[in-house]
Amino acid sequence: MNTFSVIPSMVQLQLCVSHLLYIFASVFSTVFNWTSGVFMPSTSSVSQVDIKVDQSIVKNETSPTSVNYHFTRKCNYKCGFCFHTAKTSFVLPLDEAKRGLNLLKQSGMEKINFSGGEPFLHDKGDFLGKLVQYCKQDLQLPSVSIVSNGSMIKEKWFQKYGEDLDILAISCDSFDEATNQLIGRTQGRKSHIDNLHKIRNWCQQYKVAFKINSVINTFNIDEDMTDNILQLNPVRWKVFQCLLIDGENAGEDALREAERFVISDQMFQEFLDRHSSVPCLVPESNEKMRNSYLILDEYMRFLDCREGRKDPSMSILDVGVKEAICFSGFDEKMFRERGGKYVWSKADMKLEW
Ligand SMILES: C[S@@+](CC[C@H](N)C(=O)[O-])C[C@H]1O[C@@H](n2cnc3c(N)ncnc32)[C@H](O)[C@@H]1O
Ligand code: SF4
Repeated sequence: MNTFSVIPSMVQLQLCVSHLLYIFASVFSTVFNWTSGVFMPSTSSVSQVDIKVDQSIVKNETSPTSVNYHFTRKCNYKCGFCFHTAKTSFVLPLDEAKRGLNLLKQSGMEKINFSGGEPFLHDKGDFLGKLVQYCKQDLQLPSVSIVSNGSMIKEKWFQKYGEDLDILAISCDSFDEATNQLIGRTQGRKSHIDNLHKIRNWCQQYKVAFKINSVINTFNIDEDMTDNILQLNPVRWKVFQCLLIDGENAGEDALREAERFVISDQMFQEFLDRHSSVPCLVPESNEKMRNSYLILDEYMRFLDCREGRKDPSMSILDVGVKEAICFSGFDEKMFRERGGKYVWSKADMKLEW
């Protein structure tokens, strides 16, 4: 199925613009290669080698080793700083999502992370479970992970799909219930923290590596989370500096106004210093975070954050991975610098269950 048939008209327009950009870049790259050839002295002993080097500048060699697939934008929480908001309610049919994941695997994907929106919301977690199963059993990916707010996860899900999941990251920005309410990291009066503990125990019981993500912002900046994190003992504690993305949580057309959550680099560093005794802490400043993730949206388009927005490529389902990835804005060097590649298979983690 061609994804254009199910994409609304505004998005089609966006896709046309990125397609034009793609054609322009292809023409530019062809002309560039051609001119490098013309000006090369034909008798030069280095011509063949130099042409190869020149071409590598324009040839995109990004490999989708680790991909984040935000297959839904819908969510049951209202975190005030959220940078991936419910701008559409679109979710690909299961077979199309699997086809895209297969294309990524053929292009070198080793790790997939499912995110959102809230990934456990669609089809009560069964859509997600089937993708997890497909990626582990059919595609044999070394690492399959999920990031979730945790509120919709049931024990039954672990019984059915837990074996095929390597890592489950639950987002928790505060160990003070009132702060979670202020942030919007909650649904009604339910305790986000009680839920976090419940899921931590299920992870242990069903042999899934447990991770925590926290967004540091003006509401939790003074907290000391050391004891809570040490007690929960996650394999990794990702600590993000709250990031602004135009059109998502800042500027016109945004569904959130996150300016009041933003903290300075110095405030972020002070938070990190306060938690320096936590061995599993992995810090991510705005600078490290912005372009170091390969993000796929609900149409399987890469999102380029270099201009401070999320500019979409063409869908990998329409043009393939190699073409679409040219417009991902992915900074592979920063990906490595932030420790993007780590021991991500639960089989290799030597965890005590
Ligand atoms: C967009 S959420 C989607 C998954 C799920 N709903 C959750 O909250 O975990 C993915 C991750 O991005 C983080 N996040 C959301 N908004 C952010 C922001 N403005 N800056 C940094 N991280 C953010 C979330 O806390 C979460 O860990
Ligand atoms: S960060 Fe909050 S609002 Fe955004 S998707 Fe996750 S739980 Fe939902």
